[in-house]
Amino acid sequence: MALLEVSNLHVGYGPVQVLHGIDLSIEHGARLALIGRNGVGKTTLLKALMGLADVSSGTVRFEGRTLTQADPGARALAGLGYVPQTRDIFASLTVEENLIAGLKGRPVKCINEAYDLFPRLAERRRNGGSQLSGGEQQMLTVARTLLGQPHLLLLDEPLEGLAPIICQELMSVFTRLAQNTGVAVVLVEQKVDAALRFAHQAIVLERGAIVHRGDCQSLISAPQLLEHYVGVSGTD
Ligand SMILES: Nc1ncnc2c1ncn2[C@@H]1O[C@H](COP(=O)(O)OP(=O)(O)OP(=O)(O)O)[C@@H](O)[C@H]1O
Ligand SMILES: [Mg+2]
Repeated sequence: MALLEVSNLHVGYGPVQVLHGIDLSIEHGARLALIGRNGVGKTTLLKALMGLADVSSGTVRFEGRTLTQADPGARALAGLGYVPQTRDIFASLTVEENLIAGLKGRPVKCINEAYDLFPRLAERRRNGGSQLSGGEQQMLTVARTLLGQPHLLLLDEPLEGLAPIICQELMSVFTRLAQNTGVAVVLVEQKVDAALRFAHQAIVLERGAIVHRGDCQSLISAPQLLEHYVGVSGTD
């Protein structure tokens, strides 16, 4: 049984339909890159998986359970972890308080897992969320999500606006996590080269539909295809 099975999903905002019949299957421990130009519906797809967008038809099944009508809290408890494009931290809370908010009932000492993953957060534990750099905010969002022990991690452009050195650090944490914990990851990223190096399989969205699926290596070795789909050659 696949970890996540999405069938014929139609999603929109009010009367505007954005996703038109998405079919998607993700295995346990899979690493999937979801790429496509601006506005094609990448964020909308992740939101639909989390119960944050209007699904007009289709189904979402996770670990054998139908979650199509479940609210975001129930999906988080079921094992879906979501790092939104907007980096949702609580700006008025400290780093430590933000992490505690992600524990979902686990003992407070578990926040050390976050500090092991991102030592910089330990140095900043008493700082307010609003005092953090963009990179630190992203680390905090990722770490807080991971404290909920998701089985599937949905990452929406985690590298957006960050310095190359921070991007490298985040990508190596994602790789280590995927290798060591077996968590499955869907990575939406405009830095296509980083996404294709990290993932095994790739999906390309165009105007709300999947127009390409395949292994990352075949996309890396077909720069003309990447240029066509996302307007970049895919190499550094
Ligand atoms: N809250 C909303 N209300 C109405 N339309 C929306 C809303 N959010 C997104 N859209 C529209 O849905 C379409 C898909 O948007 P989405 O944010 O999913 O794209 P994306 O692929 O994530 O783009 P980007 O690469 O810029 O993040 C766009 O046309 C966008 O304008
Ligand atoms: Mg987006």
